[in-house]
Amino acid sequence: MRLFTALALPEPLCEALGRLALGLPGARPVPADNLHLTLRFIGEVPGPVAEDVDLALSSLHGKGFSLELCGVGVSERSLRPVALWAGVARNRALEHLQSKIEFACQRAGLAPHKRRFMPHVTLARLDNTPPDKLAAWVQAHSLLRAPPAAIDHFTLFSSRLGKENSVYTPEAEYRLH
Ligand code: 2AM
Repeated sequence: MRLFTALALPEPLCEALGRLALGLPGARPVPADNLHLTLRFIGEVPGPVAEDVDLALSSLHGKGFSLELCGVGVSERSLRPVALWAGVARNRALEHLQSKIEFACQRAGLAPHKRRFMPHVTLARLDNTPPDKLAAWVQAHSLLRAPPAAIDHFTLFSSRLGKENSVYTPEAEYRLH
C-alpha cells in the first residue's frame, strides 16, 4: 500500500482553504476533504512493513500544539509551476513531531527520507496557468494568515490514485498529548 503520515486539518479551515484557488485559470483545487499537511511520505510498502510503521508510530510520544498557516507559494517542476500551497508559521513543535516520525519510520526499517521537511498544505495543482494571473494570485494571498488550529493527533493515510483526485483513507490515528 501507498502510505504517508499527515496532519488532517479542521473542517472549517479546509473549507476556507478549498476556496482560495477557485477562479484561477488552470488551477485544479484539491478537494477540501483531501487537504492535509504531509509529515512523512512513506510511499509503497508491503503489508508487514506497514504494520511495523504503525507499531513504531504508536509508541511515539508527541505533544499537541497549535498550527498557524501563513503565506502562499508555488511549486515548480522543470521551471514550470505545478502546484499552489499554503505555508506554515515557524513551529518548533511541528518540527519536533516530524523528526520523531522520521526516526520512528527509520526504526521500522525505512530508508531516511531524502527531502528536507518543508511544511505546506497543497491547495491546487496547476496546468498552464497564465504567469500574470499566477503572480497576481500569489500577491493577493501572500499575507494569508489562518486562525491557529489545535492539533491533537496525526494520521497514517493510505493513498489510491483516483480518476480525478487521489483517494486518501485514514488507516490509523495517533494521539498527541
Ligand atoms: P504534495 O502535497 O507536496 O504534493 C500524498 O501524496 C502526500 O504525499 C502529498 O501531500 C504529497 O505532497 C506527498 N508526496 C507525494 N510524493 C512525495 C514524495 N516523493 N516525497 C515527499 N512527499 C510526497
